[in-house]
Amino acid sequence: MNKDVGREVDVEALLVEARTAAEASYSPYSKFAVGAAVLCGDGSIVRGANIENASYGLTICAERSALFGAYSLGKRGMRAIAVTCPGADPALGVRGVMPCGACRQVIAELMDADGVILVDGVGSFGVEDLLPLGFALGA
Ligand code: THU
Repeated sequence: MNKDVGREVDVEALLVEARTAAEASYSPYSKFAVGAAVLCGDGSIVRGANIENASYGLTICAERSALFGAYSLGKRGMRAIAVTCPGADPALGVRGVMPCGACRQVIAELMDADGVILVDGVGSFGVEDLLPLGFALGA
């Protein structure tokens, strides 16, 4: 935890974008809104929210929404992603707001290897911190 974010990342601005993204969440089933914001190599920011579905397994998390959105727009060199869960149960502490395993696998593949994951209210993590020894396939 507390990976150095580097001077080029405005942590607070990216967290604000993630909080704005959470407002667009479609989460009528869990009623658990999540927002994410990705800082791309060209300096632009792409937001994403969790989008649920009546067929529960089709739900997509905010982190993947943001990263897939950024990639689909042709963005590359993703340097940071901020994540926020405004309705998290405080009793769960840190565990209630951390990115899920599926999102960690996608983060590891689509972000810069030295990218930063900013978890609102918790701190900053490196890609390898969140997914040590993650699966990879030659591409
Ligand atoms: N969710 C995310 O958006 N990101 C995560 O990393 C964990 C979970 C969403 C999925 C679902 O819409 C809701 O939170 C409850 O699991």
